[in-house]
Amino acid sequence: MLDSRPPLSTKQALFDPLFATSPDRRGTGSEKWDRWAGQEILPMWVADMDFQTDPVILEALHAAVEHGVFGYTHEPPDFAPALAEHLLQRHGWQIDPSSVVGMPGVVNGLAITARLLSEPGDEILTFTPIYPPFLTLPALAGRRCRQVPLVRGPQRFEIDWDALAAAISPTTKLLWLCHPHNPTGMVFGASELLGLAEFAERHALRIVSDEIWADLVLDPSAGHIPLAALDHPAARRAITLVAPSKTWNLAGLGCAAGIVPDPQHRRQWRGAGGGLVPMVNPLGYAAAAAAWRLGDPWRQRLLGLLRRHMQMVATTVEQIPGLEWLPPHATYLAWIDCRGTGLADPFAACLAAGLGPSDGLDFGAPGFIRLNVACPTDRLEMGLSRLQMAFSSPSRG
Ligand SMILES: Cc1ncc(COP(=O)(O)O)c(C=O)c1O
Repeated sequence: MLDSRPPLSTKQALFDPLFATSPDRRGTGSEKWDRWAGQEILPMWVADMDFQTDPVILEALHAAVEHGVFGYTHEPPDFAPALAEHLLQRHGWQIDPSSVVGMPGVVNGLAITARLLSEPGDEILTFTPIYPPFLTLPALAGRRCRQVPLVRGPQRFEIDWDALAAAISPTTKLLWLCHPHNPTGMVFGASELLGLAEFAERHALRIVSDEIWADLVLDPSAGHIPLAALDHPAARRAITLVAPSKTWNLAGLGCAAGIVPDPQHRRQWRGAGGGLVPMVNPLGYAAAAAAWRLGDPWRQRLLGLLRRHMQMVATTVEQIPGLEWLPPHATYLAWIDCRGTGLADPFAACLAAGLGPSDGLDFGAPGFIRLNVACPTDRLEMGLSRLQMAFSSPSRG
């Protein structure tokens, strides 16, 4: 069949044609694109991608649609084995497939662990800045969030072990780890993870590790190690939450998984949802299994694009006085410190220049912005030129 698409420009040809274009998401109920609908603001905030998902996943979805029955569905027989195989292949982690619990989202999984592993009034530790639900979910469950700020080292963000120790109280029961970490993009190393496991053991804490970003490691030297894969009792007890949604752009299909080692916790899981959590839908399950089984070639190509996009961010950020960042080890998110610009509200300055990043304030870090680079390259170029405009207008300072 003749390819009727227009030829790629030279610039596009340097990049991957798979990701050169994206469907128009306006008017589709897209959370990302509706936020500033009708305004000249390029949305580069919430963490989904503008690309179509992997064609092998579309095929699996077509097959599920052809089947045509969408009744109540629990984990289909290929779901846990596909995840187990994926974790072994990608991360060298051998899990027991019977420890896998399907759930409609990682945020939902976090909310359930608050109820399952702590009592009302207990404290949940988390490293800040952090993906906003880590800050808001504890209160919704009648628990308290105890924030421990990460510190900026020369190359990466680091754990402040003294601050962590000082944060412990008799009511601290849980540590919610985000690994790789959103928004900084850092991947915790083996010694840090082991340090956290030892810390948890010492203080009788449970660890829940949100590893939703684990398949988007950009820096090969950073190499993601699942916390629960460590040879340490507190790590082996940890609950790990994963999903194919970030890597293969499936968030709207609502399918995630917990690796829940304690059978009693698995039995209590649905009850802890208090009747508010629906079963996963069959299309979500079909897409997840296809992603884990067949999605690696597409993932590799995506990583190539995201690495180049992060280089473009680096070049731009270096040219703008007052901006600083540490290139992320993982994710498609650039976490940019704008405090050096002297602007009271850098997020507002971005909006005024037609750029819609996430506001660091929501992550507990006013003065920062988070830029989502998972879009076609020409769109990123437009976003970066608006970033330049935001911080070079006469109104700054
Ligand atoms: C660290 C982290 N956890 C969870 C989520 C959302 O997961 P879900 O859509 O499965 O609830 C996100 C989305 O950006 C995230 O960054």
